[in-house]
Amino acid sequence: MNYYQFQGSKTLLVLFHGTGGDEHDLVPLAKQIDPQASILSLRGEVSENGMNRFFKRTSFGVFDLENVKEEAKKIHTFLQEKTKEYERIIYIGYSNGANMIGAMMQLFGNTIPYAILLHPMQVLPDSKPIQSSVCITYGTQDTMITPEQTKKFIEFLEQQGAAVTTLSFAHGHQISVQEIDSVKRWYESL
Ligand code: MLT
Repeated sequence: MNYYQFQGSKTLLVLFHGTGGDEHDLVPLAKQIDPQASILSLRGEVSENGMNRFFKRTSFGVFDLENVKEEAKKIHTFLQEKTKEYERIIYIGYSNGANMIGAMMQLFGNTIPYAILLHPMQVLPDSKPIQSSVCITYGTQDTMITPEQTKKFIEFLEQQGAAVTTLSFAHGHQISVQEIDSVKRWYESL
């Protein structure tokens, strides 16, 4: 597994980039949210025409569910070892990375206490009960992952027991400065 690591406080931010990104992409965002926190940022191990992803898809929005489960298990096992010494762990993912975190919450239930999912959608149909506190953002003009897709996922997570805070912004699939500020406020309220 390729990753970037920063040793800071006893709080660990575990980062999952979007399609075509790498382990460095979300580090500036994590530093803005909590400059003191430790960081463990993963690189997705699936390649789609040279673009890093956390799981395979057969076409846009059509996912290889066996591969999702396989990759999720690998990451879960890797993280169990790497996250042991921390007091508080917050998962942060964008787009494809957020989708992987969502899939992991569904597969492994309560092993993810806190998550920030930027522009996610649901990937797996089934779920264990989820007691995570989750902050979810979406862009009202997002055409890559539509507001409807994200809202459907929020409803689903709430039905499984998750406590979801939803933040929406008048833009598309990109992450805005205002969005980071709002997410930071949610983080500081934990
Ligand atoms: C996915 O494949 O996880 C979503 O379509 C988002 C993305 O393209 O990254």
